[in-house]
Amino acid sequence: MLVQNKFESMCGIVAYIGSREAYPVVLKGLKRLEYRGYDSAGIAIINKGLKAYKKQGKVANLEDELVGKEMHSHICIGHTRWATHGEPSDRNAHPHLSGDSKLAIVHNGIIENYAQLKHELKNQGHIFKSDTDTEVLVHFIEEIRNSNFCSVEEALRIALKRVVGAYVILLIDQDNPDTIIAARKGSPLVIGIGKGEHFLASDASPIIEYTKEVVYVNDYELVILRADELILKNSSNEIQTPYIQKLDMELATIEKGGFDHFMLKEVFEQPQTIFDSLRGRLDASKGTLNMGGLSEYAGVLKDAKRIIIVACGTSWHAGLVAEYMIEELCRIPVEVEYASEFRYRNPVVGPGDVIIAVSQSGETADTLVAIESAKEKGAIILGICNVVGSSIARLSHAGAYTHAGPEIGVASTKAFTAQLAVLCLVGLMVAKEKGTITAQRFQHLLDELDAIPDKVTSILALNEHIKIIARKYKDARDFLFLGRGYNFPIALEGALKLKEISYIHAEGYPAAEMKHGPIALVDENLPVVFVATKDTYYEKVVSNIQEIKARKGKIIAVVTEGDQVIPGMADDVIFIPEADELVAPIISVIPLQLLSYHIGVLKGCDVDKPRNLAKSVTVE
Ligand code: G6P
Repeated sequence: MLVQNKFESMCGIVAYIGSREAYPVVLKGLKRLEYRGYDSAGIAIINKGLKAYKKQGKVANLEDELVGKEMHSHICIGHTRWATHGEPSDRNAHPHLSGDSKLAIVHNGIIENYAQLKHELKNQGHIFKSDTDTEVLVHFIEEIRNSNFCSVEEALRIALKRVVGAYVILLIDQDNPDTIIAARKGSPLVIGIGKGEHFLASDASPIIEYTKEVVYVNDYELVILRADELILKNSSNEIQTPYIQKLDMELATIEKGGFDHFMLKEVFEQPQTIFDSLRGRLDASKGTLNMGGLSEYAGVLKDAKRIIIVACGTSWHAGLVAEYMIEELCRIPVEVEYASEFRYRNPVVGPGDVIIAVSQSGETADTLVAIESAKEKGAIILGICNVVGSSIARLSHAGAYTHAGPEIGVASTKAFTAQLAVLCLVGLMVAKEKGTITAQRFQHLLDELDAIPDKVTSILALNEHIKIIARKYKDARDFLFLGRGYNFPIALEGALKLKEISYIHAEGYPAAEMKHGPIALVDENLPVVFVATKDTYYEKVVSNIQEIKARKGKIIAVVTEGDQVIPGMADDVIFIPEADELVAPIISVIPLQLLSYHIGVLKGCDVDKPRNLAKSVTVE
């Protein structure tokens, strides 16, 4: 099974209190949040006692389950869960209940110190029914309430002083059926203000059809919400004046976080998602790396005869980058295979081989079947997946989740950079185990990884500049993307992204190989994108640029800040921050994602759902 990281995010939260029937309002709200991606759903109401219902799968499954049940209530909390901590299951779905079943909680975020709290609570006799940190929290609140003889509100305030992490929490109490208590730190929470009614949600999309008056809750604030009363308190228990805002956004804009498309939103999420993929694993200040359950396979990886990476599409490109990383760091031969080819060509594989399956969805049929047969033949299977509990994750002996959150845009962006970050960590872990890296280089690369999120932020600031470049080249019939070394797979990914999003024919090539064919295409109408950051291959790439220039090709170059040579040769330049060549692909791909996005939009393409493509290809 894949390693469960102590992290849970992207879930959706909805609640209602007021004179309407609460359950239908919350159910509809949960459906409004479906765009965020989730794997299970649940609700709790109070009607002759507290009742909680939860179900793995779609909100519609939950709805079917509840048909015919007595759902009358004027208070309801609901949740859609996207698992990253505890497998998707009925058991792990929210709400979670206290030991006496009087309190119900829904939670979005992480309780980083839940293991310590769980240990203490178990010693005090608490019994847990799920694997979640959320259940630990509700038991912790119950324990404080019982031992301090205080209100739930007070117990929550005390509990949160010990909680390390980020969260939005909603809590209801059977003995206090006219109140919802909420708290926030680090995750979003919006209150909708109606006439004699209130709504709560992770974003305004479940609220907007009822009211446009909202209050965005701030970090460390506690909310006590009744049908006709909203009390906001800070962590020192002082009453705050709520700042009521009027929403003037459309529903679709809210779902996309204010961005025009999910793809752009996901591109812009990358500083956070890359950080999340490293979180809890990399501690550059202490010089440590911890890959959870995958660490148990460090010895197996170290002794592997070879590593075979199997994947499809963008994930295959991540595998190619990993080939460069792992061979350099660990001196282990690495092969990167298209899963569809690998599965059919009766590959020579068996004990001693380690297969790394890379997949955003964890459901790609070709990748799944490829690892199934390799597993039967005795290979060790490690999975790098984004979707927790997915088929590939379950089939793997061990692995690591990428923690990029749900990716809605069909063309993969944030999942790709998270894959690169995690694969780099794997390479570093094995190199350390094998002794093929010096302490100094190890520390340097930890520092380099640590610095990536900020570098991504600075590249995103070039969005408008890249849009101008996109406008200039949007009518080209073909594009060529070239790079060498670590940037060769990025050239492939740049070409794939452009094809997917804008339907312009594009090819990616190793820059040197270009003279063995694609150079025949070069004329004044052909834009050639060079990924030409300062690395071992730099001088060689400069020569390749000259070769294109001599044939009047148009050159768009992604270069390192401070480069004074290539800008003098290129028609358009995108400067990105300096980075060690081993981690540079994580940042050099970002301008290419933006370039494709803008060209696609300018050409009027449906960038989130390009024609003929599917997000998860579960057929061969
Ligand atoms: C589809 C998607 C691509 C993705 C590929 C592999 O083609 O459109 O974006 O890269 O499948 O998917 P996986 O979920 O295995 O990474």
